[in-house]
Amino acid sequence: MIEFVYQILTKFGYTHPLHPTLTHVPIGMVIGAFLFALAALIFRWTTVTRTARHCVILALIVALPTTLLGIMDWQHFYGGALIFPIKMKLVLAGVLLIFLTLAVIVGFFGEKFSTLVLALYALCLLSAVGLGYFGGELVYGTKASVAATVEDPAAEGAMVFQQNCSACHLTDSTAQKIGPGLKGIFKQDKFPVSGQPLSEENFKKLLQKPFDKMPPFGHLTPEQVDALTAYLKTL
Ligand code: HEC
Repeated sequence: MIEFVYQILTKFGYTHPLHPTLTHVPIGMVIGAFLFALAALIFRWTTVTRTARHCVILALIVALPTTLLGIMDWQHFYGGALIFPIKMKLVLAGVLLIFLTLAVIVGFFGEKFSTLVLALYALCLLSAVGLGYFGGELVYGTKASVAATVEDPAAEGAMVFQQNCSACHLTDSTAQKIGPGLKGIFKQDKFPVSGQPLSEENFKKLLQKPFDKMPPFGHLTPEQVDALTAYLKTL
């Protein structure tokens, strides 16, 4: 079912994850709710309290599909692997949904709870910041900037690797993470798991149609695959 959605989108030329596009709405609305409620409390602008409440209601409405798309992207692009940043995002998404719901409910009881509501908005904001942080960790890893040297295919390949493969594969050993460690992979004559003869051509096929549990990477451009190959050869 999930794969079907992505297949349709690919037919229309859309090959990116869906979740990041929508995250801006709940994040923006949570920031808005907090700032408007703060202004209302400091300057006694009572009408702005309503603006804040409307922001948080919209945040809650959009947070649900955003979470759902996040789960779909996780299944499709990460093969549902339960790695650390994903665990944190799942927990924080649950926490954010709870705080948003509470903020909406308490907000209905009006003025006398304004400090409590502000505190709930602040907690929503903290959860949203945490979600953004672990999203960044997931996509760029911690060492991505080191590899950002342009013009060098291996450096570009390192970026491609950080964004697509590092969640499941180590590069400095052959030890297992979720898949096998890829140190020295192109110096071998066989692929480590399937035992297929090792060649650039078979590597390209592997990305299209991986062996067993690995997710496919058909969405990478030929340039990205070449860069990735150049990088793996340096390991
Ligand atoms: C969600 C986790 C995951 C991601 C992401 C991932 N892999 Fe894998 N990979 C695996 C698993 C698991 C295996 C072992 C095969 C199996 O048991 O199904 C594997 C196997 C491999 C193998 C050995 C295949 C064989 O035939 O022996 C290579 C090479 C490989 N991956 C490269 C990559 C590259 C390059 C990327 C990034 C473009 C990548 N992987 C992304 C999980 C992943």
